[in-house]
Amino acid sequence: LFHWSIHLFLYTVRCLTMLGHFGFECLPHQLVNRSIQQGFSFNILCVGETGIGKSTLIDTLFNTNLKDKKSSHFYSNVGLKIQTYELQESNVQLKLTVVKTVGYGDQINKEASYQPVVDYVDAQFEAYLQEELKIKRSFIDYHDSRIHVCLYFISPTGHSLKSLDLLTMKNIDSKVNIVPLIAKADTISKNDLQKFKCKIMSELVSNGIQIYQFPTHDETTAQMSQSLNFYCGQLPFAVVGSMDEVKVGKRMVRGRQYPWGVLQGKCDESEQVCSGKCVCVNKLGFFCSFQEIYEAKRQKFYDQCQREEEELKQKFMQRVKEKETTFKESEKELQEKFEHLKRVQQEETMKLEEERRQLEEEIIDFYKMKAVSETLQTQVCTNIKKE
Ligand code: GTP
Repeated sequence: LFHWSIHLFLYTVRCLTMLGHFGFECLPHQLVNRSIQQGFSFNILCVGETGIGKSTLIDTLFNTNLKDKKSSHFYSNVGLKIQTYELQESNVQLKLTVVKTVGYGDQINKEASYQPVVDYVDAQFEAYLQEELKIKRSFIDYHDSRIHVCLYFISPTGHSLKSLDLLTMKNIDSKVNIVPLIAKADTISKNDLQKFKCKIMSELVSNGIQIYQFPTHDETTAQMSQSLNFYCGQLPFAVVGSMDEVKVGKRMVRGRQYPWGVLQGKCDESEQVCSGKCVCVNKLGFFCSFQEIYEAKRQKFYDQCQREEEELKQKFMQRVKEKETTFKESEKELQEKFEHLKRVQQEETMKLEEERRQLEEEIIDFYKMKAVSETLQTQVCTNIKKE
């Protein structure tokens, strides 16, 4: 039976052919490809007063048009609205979950307004923990609903933070990454905006509120992150959102049309086309930064490969040249040796030839002498007989 099972095994064994090169250096690409195939999931928590521009900014950031009903200002409690969208940009798939506060800041007594937010964040941690504690975990199809980032919308008052803002941020800062945003920043002048930013930052610091620190360990983004973390710099981001498309030059862009000009909501710093003021939310776009980083890394890897290939080529050519010179020298040495041996052999042959010739002469002489002596001997014998 064992013998047959071995036969069966040998017959059923599959021969797999390599699909391509597989090596350590391919690992980052394989990870990126796997992530792209699986898709990404990104959960955003938007905390801010009713009508502050949460939905508009999300639409502006992700270039979508996820129509949403306006919330009422008359809820007795703060609630949360959770919506999940499947987005695709080029080959990147994103499962985007947007959790928005509803009725935030509308109650007379706002003391417990932060509680539903804290409860929601905790519940997602708990759900994940429960999944992790299972004997048979299935993280492949598990939708991780833990919040990646909390966009905190600050009213563009130009004064200071409200106690509700401080209270909520204080209660969630250890649980989520808070990115503070000054909403509807087009309503503040440039000077007021900078002062407002500094005021907000000093209030956050004096109240011991931790906001998200952009990671500086990745060299591709370190410089940009450092400038973003800089106190009294760009944080809190001043943002402008829009659902409308307006014409700027020959292009249609998302922006807000005013009597004094067009304000482009999401733009690159080089593309500030607005007359007067333009506040950008650049670098917050998820797709944009991911693709940028991936492309930069890919380019860097490609350049490195090219450099290494060039170096290898140069080394190879150098070694070929060295070998060629060595071979030529050896060939020359061998040729000289051969010539020398040939000369020696010729001399040797000539010497032997001379000796042979001498020997032959000696043999001829010997035979001559032998013939003479035989003749003499015969004569002597004849003479003796006669006598
Ligand atoms: P709720 O979900 O109802 O709480 O509102 P929201 O916070 O999602 O606000 P929404 O995006 O619905 O915007 C409310 C209003 O503000 C709309 O009329 C927007 O056009 C306007 N708005 C949004 N963003 C901006 C902005 O950056 N500047 C200005 N001036 N208006 C804005």
